[in-house]
Amino acid sequence: LNFNISRERRYILEVLFNGLRRLEYRGYDSAGVSIDSSLCSSNAGVAPPSLVFRQEGNIESLVKSVYQDVAATDLNLQESFLTHAGIAHTRWATHGEPAPRNSHPQSSDAGNEFLVVHNGVITNYKVLKESLVRHGFTFESDTDTEVIPKLAKFVFDNANEEGDRRVTFSQVVLEVMRHLEGAYALIFKSRHYPNELIACKRGSPLLLGVKELTEEDNRASFNDSKFLSSNVEAKELFLSSDPSALVEHTKKVLVIEDGEVVHLKDGGVSIFKFDHAKGKGGETLIRPASVQRALSVLEMEVEQINKGKYEHYMQKEIHEQPESLKTTMRGRLIRGGSCKAKSVLLGGIKDHLKTIRRSRRIVFIGCGTSYNAALAARPILEELSGIPVTMEIASDLVDRQGPIYREDTTVFVSQSGETADTLQALEYALENGALCVGITNTVGSAIARNTHCGVHINAGCEIGVASTKAYTSQIVVMAMLALAIGDDTISSQARREAIIDGLFDLPKTVKEVLKLDQEMKDLAQLLIAEQSLLVFGRGYNYATALEGALKVKEVALMHSEGILAGEMKHGPLALVDETLPIVVIATRDACFSKQQSVIQQLHARKGRLIVMCTKGDAASVCVGGSCRVIEVPQVEDCLQPVINIVPLQLLAYHLTVLRGYNVDQPRNLAKSVTTQ
Ligand code: G6P
Repeated sequence: LNFNISRERRYILEVLFNGLRRLEYRGYDSAGVSIDSSLCSSNAGVAPPSLVFRQEGNIESLVKSVYQDVAATDLNLQESFLTHAGIAHTRWATHGEPAPRNSHPQSSDAGNEFLVVHNGVITNYKVLKESLVRHGFTFESDTDTEVIPKLAKFVFDNANEEGDRRVTFSQVVLEVMRHLEGAYALIFKSRHYPNELIACKRGSPLLLGVKELTEEDNRASFNDSKFLSSNVEAKELFLSSDPSALVEHTKKVLVIEDGEVVHLKDGGVSIFKFDHAKGKGGETLIRPASVQRALSVLEMEVEQINKGKYEHYMQKEIHEQPESLKTTMRGRLIRGGSCKAKSVLLGGIKDHLKTIRRSRRIVFIGCGTSYNAALAARPILEELSGIPVTMEIASDLVDRQGPIYREDTTVFVSQSGETADTLQALEYALENGALCVGITNTVGSAIARNTHCGVHINAGCEIGVASTKAYTSQIVVMAMLALAIGDDTISSQARREAIIDGLFDLPKTVKEVLKLDQEMKDLAQLLIAEQSLLVFGRGYNYATALEGALKVKEVALMHSEGILAGEMKHGPLALVDETLPIVVIATRDACFSKQQSVIQQLHARKGRLIVMCTKGDAASVCVGGSCRVIEVPQVEDCLQPVINIVPLQLLAYHLTVLRGYNVDQPRNLAKSVTTQ
């Protein structure tokens, strides 16, 4: 505890720290914060330098070091003030190892004239760095970000040399933006512009949160066309790359668009657009134009981002699935009646269904768990639509520049809606003229905004880095998509109605399968010291094998591989012995007898088997040897992956806890990967 810090400053620090704690799930290898060292008055010329604290490790290490540093110095932070602008950042290293000098805020010079926090990647930083070095700048970090504050100082100093002493903060930032390539959301702070912040973005997400506007604005509801215009009086303004850092302060937000520049000054806000127009001589013109847009209301509750009675977010999110599936389906399943068939209504794509049905091909594109979810839904989409469905890992499509045609429907699946690889693939598909459909959990995300149409999965905020509830909701959304596309085919009506019935019952069945929690904990105890785990699946459950193995790999840090059982004889069989644990998914569907044969062959090689089977099959499924059995309830074949993944999620969770690893922040992984 220290006493040389005023209540206001402590409040500001705590708001910044709390914001970082909320964002920790997106990156946590180092963090930093900047506040003012003394009262800044815009009339007093250049204000004293801002204080910058940077620390390697998680947010709590930063918090500790800030208070220790403040206590250890003679700084008088007791002064009171009316307006203050602070910035903070939690980092996930892309360029440069985690270290204080590589943490943000990055600075222009020893005097911290310009400070910047950055989310994204500056692709032309090497060229900019070389040029700044030629102009006498020395670099302290290995980051791409450091060029930004240095460029700001360069622009500012040049303008002053040219006698333009009235260059505004936003003019400086607009000029900096003109030179930057890549993806970014940036916040600038400068001692030359006390009590001001400038934020801007291209590619990476950025939100402005507004708390306590005028009374009239406070009454404004989502649908009112109240506009946030220049210099509105406001008590607290927040800028963040993620709504979870805002929701405890305000639900009123503006989603900042690419090219927009937000200027916060003395508690007011103005927004304008960086216009990339070309002049007559081909030169880039900066034409700032004022922006006015309606505030939107975050559909997120603080409780959603708290752990509640659970120890970890991943655990909470696994157990939340009966509820998250209900919200995913809410209002979208039509029960039908005496003369009306059961059907599905997906408002976000209904006007595009005809185009989708006429497509030559449907291409699913995603990364990680989102890719696996699409793979799980592929068979039912092929069956109900009759259209060939191909799968693309986003980065691979971009690497290959694989053919995408105007007659294709491309479906972009992403929990965050911000994954850089998926966004790049989206850009590519748009360029090639395909219809682009987004399936995302994040309203207002880049994928939601930049696709032609789409469906929100509405699974609620997912914080655990290992995706669980988003996965099951994604499968359900894609099953509904298949139902909607196939809705005009009379011959498959009975099949569609059976699936719709299955969807209605799904949350209840997921609740039932969650009762396997203790059994999965016992199994985890058995596997705790293993080096490796294989998961065999096929058909609808090939995706379950991949996703189950991914969960174990991601959080329990155990090597694990999902294997298409049909490929067993073509390589994986060589690994089978008495020690290596193998999970075989053999629930009832059209592939059941083939999986029985797989089990027999594995038994013949003395494989150590854990078989997931349909309730009641335990006695009969393990032909040719003994095995441990996980029994799960049966649902419609295309929905079975939603049930089957749950025990594997629980297994991965318990394995992680028992092995003593960090469940919600697994080593080297981040929730949304906004860089390539
Ligand atoms: C990261 C996460 C994964 C996630 C993948 C795709 O790798 O760690 O859990 O599945 O990104 O993310 P998205 O937000 O596009 O679904």
